[in-house]
Amino acid sequence: MNISIIGTGYVGLVSGVCLAYKGHRVICVDKIQSIVDSINKGIAPIYEAHLERMLIDVVNNNNLKATTDLEHAVMNTQISIIAVGTPFIGDSIDLKYVEDAAYDIGTILKNKKDYHVVCVKSTVIPTTTDTLVLKTLQQSSGKTLGDFGLVMNPEFLKEGEAVEDFLNPDRIVIGAMDEKSFEMLKNVYKDYFDAPILKVNPRTAEMIKYTSNSLLATLVSFSNEIAAISEEVGNIDALKVLEGVSLDRRITPNPEGKIIKPDITKYLKPGRGFGGSCFPKDVKSLIAFSEKQGYTPQILKSVIEVNESQTRRMIIALKSEISGIKDKTIAILGLAFKANTDDVRESPSIKLIGELLKEGGKLICYDPIAIENAKKELANNINIKFVDRYEKALERADAAIIMTDWDVILNIAFDEFKKLMKNPTIVDGCRIFDITKAESHGIRYVGIGYRE
Ligand code: UGA
Repeated sequence: MNISIIGTGYVGLVSGVCLAYKGHRVICVDKIQSIVDSINKGIAPIYEAHLERMLIDVVNNNNLKATTDLEHAVMNTQISIIAVGTPFIGDSIDLKYVEDAAYDIGTILKNKKDYHVVCVKSTVIPTTTDTLVLKTLQQSSGKTLGDFGLVMNPEFLKEGEAVEDFLNPDRIVIGAMDEKSFEMLKNVYKDYFDAPILKVNPRTAEMIKYTSNSLLATLVSFSNEIAAISEEVGNIDALKVLEGVSLDRRITPNPEGKIIKPDITKYLKPGRGFGGSCFPKDVKSLIAFSEKQGYTPQILKSVIEVNESQTRRMIIALKSEISGIKDKTIAILGLAFKANTDDVRESPSIKLIGELLKEGGKLICYDPIAIENAKKELANNINIKFVDRYEKALERADAAIIMTDWDVILNIAFDEFKKLMKNPTIVDGCRIFDITKAESHGIRYVGIGYRE
């Protein structure tokens, strides 16, 4: 099929490259000429594993090209996928770019004779597609639904694994306004991707996206609430508690004695809380939207509250281990919001650093790839230094705080902590180290969800 994609950010470009890789002919549209030029040269403007290699292939075999010319893209394709950004402002998302894209596509559809389907892929609050997008398209095209098609088709791409997630989807959700547009979208995926297709209406599709992320975020905060209770009691390890819970066959199937550990159990683990460009924004947007509808979502509000209290809890734990923070040298190991990315948006590490600086700590921060992005988030401060090797962060430190579970960090030997630090104390925000082993090396260890 011929498909145009509006917006070449992380969702738009990954979708475009993967659809082209599967054999569709894709035109990517962006307003920024330098981004378009870069894509046409086979240089990915964002980093995602495997993306650039595949981009080169699809540009070379002419299955993908980029342009700033929206009219050319819409006129020469059967489906336009809107994948523009929805920035988070105040307590909700800004739908301006989605509305603008719908308006511009509608203006072009006015003069297009053939049937054309508009597909919303950007994460938008429920009712956006069947109210705002539909109304905008009808106004600017002068046509009514049926003359064109409209669907909502959310993405479920994890940062760092987006290409794999797109190529091997667990489900394809198609929220169509009508049968004809459903069939068109189904043809994009049916013979190319092996996954169940769920047919729903657009607002259900939008809700599925928000509910997926809310469920995962709830598991993280639920685990951290169990961690807090365990810490208060003492000598209970919440990591073991949640492991015990996860082994329930209804969570971890055990056919013929062979344990299958589902990925979701990764979220049933105590830690420094969730971050990134999706969980905090999506849960907060759903709360704000729900309140506007007249319902106060109590669980989701607690999910955010528990997550926000993690930083404070870590600081209290650290203070009691090293008797105060002022003028203490603290190694921060990990700046990215999760491993294998340089993204620091809403990173728990950045939040913790801000609080520790306020308390007068002297911070030496290490991350294998996120330092440049972290510097942009953190104002210049004489009490913060960035180092390119973890050894330099640990040197003469009073404590080390683990904030991202990078392989390079979880492979640090206890002897190195012992040798390099002034006062070998680890506050483990990711629960990557073994308590007994740490203590047997003479290291003071505090983990989220464990207190002596
Ligand atoms: C998330 C979802 O997992 C994707 O399914 C979804 O498509 C995507 O958002 C999106 O909306 O676009 P992502 O933000 O890349 O993907 O990251 P995750 O790997 O799910 O991690 C989110 C946060 O939860 C990270 O800060 C991570 O460190 C944290 N987390 C994860 C924990 O604190 N504990 C865990 O056990 C697991």
